[in-house]
Amino acid sequence: MRNLLVFFTLLLFTFNLQAEDGHNLWLRAKSTGSVDIVCARSSATLTIAKQELEQGWQGQNGAKFTLTIKKDKAIKGDGFKLSENEIQANTELGILYGVCELLRRQQTGQTIQNEICNPSYDRRVLNHWDNLDGTVERGYAGLSIFWHDLEKGYAVTDNDRMLWKEYARANASIGINGSVLNNVNSHKLMLTPECLQKVKAIAEVLRPYGIKTYLSVKFSSPTLIGGLKTSDPLNPEVIKWWKDKVKEIYTLIPDFGGLLIKANSEGEPGPQDYGRNHADGANMLADAFKPYGGIIMWRAFVYAANSKDRACQAYNEFMPLDGQFRDNVIIQVKNGPVDFQPREPFTSLFGALKKTTVMPELQITQEYLGHSEQLVFLATMWEEFLKSDTYQEGIGSTVARTTDGSIFPQKYTAIAGVANIGLDTNWSGHHFAQANWYAFGRMAWKNQMTSEKIADEWLKLTFSPKEGKNVNINISDWQKNFLMPVKQLMLESREATVNYSMPLGLHHIFAGLNNTHYGPGPWFAPKGIRIDWTPAYYHKADSLGIGFDRTTKGSGAVSQYHEPLNSQFENPATCPEIYLLWFHHLPWDYKMKDGRILWDELCYTYDKGVNEVRQFQKTWDKVQPYVDAQRFSEVQSKLRQQCRDAQVWKDGCLLYFQQFSKRPIPFDIERPVYDLDYLMKMDLTDMLK
Ligand code: GCU
Repeated sequence: MRNLLVFFTLLLFTFNLQAEDGHNLWLRAKSTGSVDIVCARSSATLTIAKQELEQGWQGQNGAKFTLTIKKDKAIKGDGFKLSENEIQANTELGILYGVCELLRRQQTGQTIQNEICNPSYDRRVLNHWDNLDGTVERGYAGLSIFWHDLEKGYAVTDNDRMLWKEYARANASIGINGSVLNNVNSHKLMLTPECLQKVKAIAEVLRPYGIKTYLSVKFSSPTLIGGLKTSDPLNPEVIKWWKDKVKEIYTLIPDFGGLLIKANSEGEPGPQDYGRNHADGANMLADAFKPYGGIIMWRAFVYAANSKDRACQAYNEFMPLDGQFRDNVIIQVKNGPVDFQPREPFTSLFGALKKTTVMPELQITQEYLGHSEQLVFLATMWEEFLKSDTYQEGIGSTVARTTDGSIFPQKYTAIAGVANIGLDTNWSGHHFAQANWYAFGRMAWKNQMTSEKIADEWLKLTFSPKEGKNVNINISDWQKNFLMPVKQLMLESREATVNYSMPLGLHHIFAGLNNTHYGPGPWFAPKGIRIDWTPAYYHKADSLGIGFDRTTKGSGAVSQYHEPLNSQFENPATCPEIYLLWFHHLPWDYKMKDGRILWDELCYTYDKGVNEVRQFQKTWDKVQPYVDAQRFSEVQSKLRQQCRDAQVWKDGCLLYFQQFSKRPIPFDIERPVYDLDYLMKMDLTDMLK
């Protein structure tokens, strides 16, 4: 009899742990009792708020809970006041956000006390790099959730609407309130009436969840689809074309958010094609959007083939224009000056522009951090970035504060993340990549939030055993044996990636074949290719040493930073070693702080990265009893891939650089297992299953 009982308990346990494919994201919890909701008003958004409260309530059974919309000066935008029995907000959306926060706290065992929660940024936007043909640029989680085969037109199905609703709900739960629906390398048809009808259909599904739609469009649209001879921003016909087009958009989508523009960057058209500057282009569009409350997010991702140092160009192009932009233009700046690398110092524009609104652009999709193959929790990288001190107005002028309006008054504040979402069942390709979507939303809401707290919340929401049903898992065992080690793994994962791929400030040394940005290729240099698209441009390894000299004797990029950073970065002795080869070209025998020579330090760091991933494998294998079978084995398999990748990175980089350093790989670390010739002949993506 006793055995039978054990068997049934185990069966229950096994069954309960099997049924998860990740589609429910961090929204798995169900209510544990009923709640009596009092709410004087009604609307689509409030109906959602009430439903969420009923479906996820884990407070006292039968408790009374009030939702109140009442103006309060201390509550900003869609913020809210949270207490045990009430949520108060200025807006309906504030109520929905308050409900999501309350449920999150109940479900993760956090305290609920009287507290006002205001967002750090007004606009918290996902940038989808989705193409009209249904593919996703730098997308690693399947095809687009918004766009399908262009040949078949713009039809919208019930399935589409259902998925968009799930997407909207997930975003609202973490405070994301905007979606740019398409790629910055925009399709010329984006603003055609047929396409706008589809945008309208998407906007209708997203609207009750408080998500505004935005589009990326070609700056040359007046010529491409309007039949005009020019798209010169100062031409009266062009100005009129845009005004009419904007009116058409707002007739269809009254709450349309605005545009995201990639101009004069990587071949995209822009005002410079007509002898105008970024301000001329952005302001013309801003004027057309102003009457409707729309904004223009104008990207600062610019670099030229002949540039001595690509990292300097955004500053050089935008600084002279400071103060010339309309107040509804926001300059969208990537966190680092090159391109979403595993580690970069912050882009100098963050501490520099004083009379122009700047918004950070983060990359949630892991273009340069192992696609959806590798487990890399990006919150630690974003925390490092947001906490970086720019010294713009003295000590404490962190990137967070220079962008959220704390230092200079700004009409709008905003932050964007390039989405990692696709049609894959689990949305993001890797179960742990969902954590990066989650982290972006949480940090956009509160830019002081620590990655540790985010990981803790996300793990509890995403992996905690469903209590009640599952009698076999004791929650304190789960915390000790699953939560703690896996949280640790997440928090270490980004540094491990830096270690096994581009340590000590190395950057952009990817294999270039097929432009995949996956795997090492410090040797990549086919004939005729633009020099700034070859890794040697960035690592500059030669018989004397390695690294990019950005001191005043080199490209001078250090001068774009305020003191004391300028002097600190200028001198290798004071430059943080994590940025050493970003700012300096140093001899192979340069003495590091720990007494090792640079070459040895590189070897040990690559090796450390590989060992860290091996450790992640062990950690994960050990938590098997606490994870459902499907998610366990899918993550296990991806970790195996990550170990193989880490080994390839280490071997490829060390064996290649060794040709210049002419020094042995220290004998107390594991030997390479691949030959350089073999690695040079293939692209790492070929090694993916
Ligand atoms: C990177 C990326 C491109 C993207 C570009 C951008 O270069 O590889 O795919 O279009 O950034 O941000 O505009």
